[in-house]
Amino acid sequence: MSLPRGKFITLEGTEGVGKTTNLTFIQEWLEQKNVPLIVTREPGGTPLAEELREMLLRKRDEPVDASAELLMVFAARAQHLNQVIRPALERGEWVLCDRFTDATYAYQGAGRGLSLEMIETLENLVQEELRPDLTIVLDIDVETGLARASDRAALDRFESEAVEFFHRVRGGYRTRVAQQPDRYRVIDAGQNLKAVQSDVAAVLEQLGL
Ligand code: TMP
Repeated sequence: MSLPRGKFITLEGTEGVGKTTNLTFIQEWLEQKNVPLIVTREPGGTPLAEELREMLLRKRDEPVDASAELLMVFAARAQHLNQVIRPALERGEWVLCDRFTDATYAYQGAGRGLSLEMIETLENLVQEELRPDLTIVLDIDVETGLARASDRAALDRFESEAVEFFHRVRGGYRTRVAQQPDRYRVIDAGQNLKAVQSDVAAVLEQLGL
């Protein structure tokens, strides 16, 4: 008898929402419940995909064409999906991924203004039927998030975008949530950390853990 497929959980949000802290919280929560788990991220998650990530995030003098950016995102995703995510799910392990295709709809779609149909075509091509089982969206006021992110190391190519870009990105996430409310849980990341984590825990409990 084959193992049941593991669950695929993704974490999303704009800059400075506290993704890293909450990812660790979710990881520890699941490990405590003895859920077999891998934790990974996009763009990235394999050596090749991490190289593509570096290429995507690095600031450069040459303007980056939005469709070239989109194709690099999906090139990284194809590698990550087929080398890491699908094999783990097939082994019955859960996959906790820091960002996935919702980020493409939000950043390349809403942010850069690329057609959602083009993104959907690539999504179907690269992922076939695979979609996350659950996506937690950490939501915060754009200005508050950017202020938090600017306290960190030097800004990358995305973080250096103008504030309007992040308003569009946040709007992009909200549209996705409104279109398929069952797959998403939105958490107010503007609360104090304890309150955010208590909301995250409530979401995980709903998974029957
Ligand atoms: P991170 O710093 O939150 O890990 O994400 C790296 C950046 O990559 C972030 O600014 C969002 C961007 N990104 C996209 O533009 N499209 C995507 O599909 C993904 C996964 C990330």
